[in-house]
Amino acid sequence: MNYALERFTTEVREAIAATGQAEVGQIELTTPRPNIPADLAFPTFRLAKEQGLVAPQLATDLAAAIRVDDNSLIGKVEAVGPFLNFSMHPERLAVTVLNEIFATGTCYGTHRDGHAQRVVVDYSAPNIAKRMHVGHIRSTIIGQAIVNLYRALGYEVIGDNHLGDWGKQFGVVLASIEHEGKPEGVGEAALEALEAQYARFAAAAKDDSALDELARQWSLRLEQGDPQARELWQWSVDLTMEAAQRNYDRLGVKIDHAYGESFYEPMLAGVIQEALDCGVAYRDAGGAVVIENLQNLPTFLLQRSDSGTLYMTRDVATIVFRMREFNPQKIVYVIGEPQALHLRQLFALMRAMGYAQEVELTHVAFGTVFDAQGQPLSTRRGNMVYLEALLDDAVSRARAVVERKSPDLPEAEKDAVAEAVGVGAVVYNDLYQDPKRNITLDWERMLATEGNSATYLQYSYARCRSLLRRAREDGGEGPGGELSLLVHPSETRLIKHLARLPEAVREAGARYAPFVVADWCYTTAREFGVFFEQCPVLKAETALLRGARLSLVAATAQALHNGLSLLGIQAPERM
Ligand code: ARG
Repeated sequence: MNYALERFTTEVREAIAATGQAEVGQIELTTPRPNIPADLAFPTFRLAKEQGLVAPQLATDLAAAIRVDDNSLIGKVEAVGPFLNFSMHPERLAVTVLNEIFATGTCYGTHRDGHAQRVVVDYSAPNIAKRMHVGHIRSTIIGQAIVNLYRALGYEVIGDNHLGDWGKQFGVVLASIEHEGKPEGVGEAALEALEAQYARFAAAAKDDSALDELARQWSLRLEQGDPQARELWQWSVDLTMEAAQRNYDRLGVKIDHAYGESFYEPMLAGVIQEALDCGVAYRDAGGAVVIENLQNLPTFLLQRSDSGTLYMTRDVATIVFRMREFNPQKIVYVIGEPQALHLRQLFALMRAMGYAQEVELTHVAFGTVFDAQGQPLSTRRGNMVYLEALLDDAVSRARAVVERKSPDLPEAEKDAVAEAVGVGAVVYNDLYQDPKRNITLDWERMLATEGNSATYLQYSYARCRSLLRRAREDGGEGPGGELSLLVHPSETRLIKHLARLPEAVREAGARYAPFVVADWCYTTAREFGVFFEQCPVLKAETALLRGARLSLVAATAQALHNGLSLLGIQAPERM
């Protein structure tokens, strides 16, 4: 799909080339500064120098020589000093962009760039027998947005939930179950109880070698495939995944696979051997498999001297498996910043082993979460926040906002709106800025009905939808009218901004930066606010203008809805 802005850019290039003074390849265009009333500029310095001309003169000559045909998106062409400035034709822009939005609907903003290419996104990745804490919450939300973006770019996306379901700690989990039994209940509450009994057992085992031995035995039995150990382990996997699933459903998260670390157990001996064979790793005197002096990275292990394997070993096997199974062009890891070194070591090792030459390996690292007092959330501090409780908290706070702002909605609808607003606030808080940055859990800001919050965006969408409903009810002109009447400056600004969604999606994908789409949504809501303040819609001067403005409202609603759904945010029809 060739969207309006791309066509405008192409037309500008071709119009300059058609003067015979420059070749398409030589024409580098820039975006004028916001105070310049133009949409694209051609700085003529370089071309002037090549031709031994003075830039302002060349700009003037070009402006005089340029011919624009009748249905071009180019409006005005003007020489300003050394620049050749191009503005879009407001009438034709309005007609083109709005029709484009109506023709493509929910697909507006998507591309086919990734056709026949695959991306694996590794995200969420909670640890079994534990609740999902803020790190997993961030990974889940940012990861899902990246999945949505890459699907919108036309890639085949494979989501993989790399569950933390293996390791020595499961010996303690199983031993604590032998000791205290399985905790009652389901969901986060049951996991919390399981964490507590784990902690009790681990503490007791510190000065009781018999308990320590018991945990070791369970760990061994699990590794050797003992049926009772496997069954208890499976129970803990199921308990954790049931709790996760309920939260995934609320967040609109769907992950294609959940191979998990345990899945790679049978492949580990093979990858360790391979690392030894190709000379990247060596076995030291104590029997550990060591990787040293790899691109100046700190030394790390693939196998301990007690022959145990590590998180790293399983991540190596995971890449081997993903390459064989999916043959992807990219693998994206959505994991917190503290694991940056782990991933650098992993990526360097894979390259050194001759794997993943063609594949792009990317770590999308995210920052820490702070509470409203500015303290980082941590289990040790005791201020950790878990996913289910966080969503419940958000929704009950959102319920109060809905009660205040929309007291007349039916109760059941209030509940549905509160769910969308509460969950949306949590999701947006993870997405509205660069993932690298830290975020704060500040409900005041997250649920504000003005400013850069999901709530504000949802209100803007609901406002569009309510205008369209009222237009139907009062029996006057509906959406349609004469779109070329949309030339008020605030209309043109809004339309130009709507035209930018496709490039925002591209940029967000290329930078693994959902906030680019979040920014686009925020500006849309603001530009819509300005338009709504300056241009009467239902009471427009003429029926044709009213119809056109309602079309603009409908197009804004559609585009905003598309932007929000890329972020994984629901938009209620009324609020
Ligand atoms: N389960 C891990 C944790 O909680 C995250 C796993 C991330 N993915 C990976 N391939 N290492 O820290």
